[in-house]
Amino acid sequence: MLEGILVDLVPFGQDFGKLMGDWMNGPAAYWANVGDRPIASRAMIEHWLEGRNAAQHGPARIEFGVRTKSGKPIGQMGVNFTSDAHRWANLGVVIGNPTYWGGGYGTDGFILLVDYLFTWLDLRRIYVETMASNVRVQRMMDKLEFTFEGRRRAMWYADGSWQDALVYGVLCNEWPGRATLVEKLGLRARPEPEA
Ligand SMILES: CC(C)(COP(=O)(O)OP(=O)(O)OC[C@H]1O[C@@H](n2cnc3c(N)ncnc32)[C@H](O)[C@@H]1OP(=O)(O)O)[C@@H](O)C(=O)NCCC(=O)NCCS
Repeated sequence: MLEGILVDLVPFGQDFGKLMGDWMNGPAAYWANVGDRPIASRAMIEHWLEGRNAAQHGPARIEFGVRTKSGKPIGQMGVNFTSDAHRWANLGVVIGNPTYWGGGYGTDGFILLVDYLFTWLDLRRIYVETMASNVRVQRMMDKLEFTFEGRRRAMWYADGSWQDALVYGVLCNEWPGRATLVEKLGLRARPEPEA
């Protein structure tokens, strides 16, 4: 378990699995699926949960549940795929419960994740790819001092228009470290929203 200020990153267990239906059929799915709004049945979610650590995700998939300090599961984040040879990872992050968007919960958890990957897994490069319309992620990347590395044009068709993919990355020698970022962003414990 990785302990943050507003959230902890914990094993992605049954309590998270039970909420996957809400998250995958709610507004977070549009952003997580880059413009798609799949309808996820209970059977699909159970199948996905059973297989999430199996071959289709590769052995290096790492998934954490995001839990508020009061113990409420609100999302998931981790490594989508990685290269052992080159020591880089592509990360995914979803606060599934929109009540918690814009309150620093995702950012607090993401700092924990990146710090863990650089400190404990000795990665040298981490990156994220997002839709050009996803301003929350872009703001989070800027706050965490990731570098905007490039734009892949017209990658995804979302809500009637083609969306560019934006790539943000950070190298281990550029990462300011968790303590510095917590201080810079002024992350402090505070009462959680009613949800
Ligand atoms: C992206 C995400 C993880 C960020 O986590 P979060 O807890 O919302 O992060 P924060 O609270 O730090 O908010 C990020 C920034 O976006 C800003 N923001 C929030 N809503 C916004 C909006 N509608 N328009 C513009 N900026 C917005 C916040 O103000 C904040 O910036 P600030 O600290 O300068 O004020 C979370 O919003 C999320 O899971 N979204 C849905 C799924 C998703 O997009 N996943 C990523 C796919 S690549």
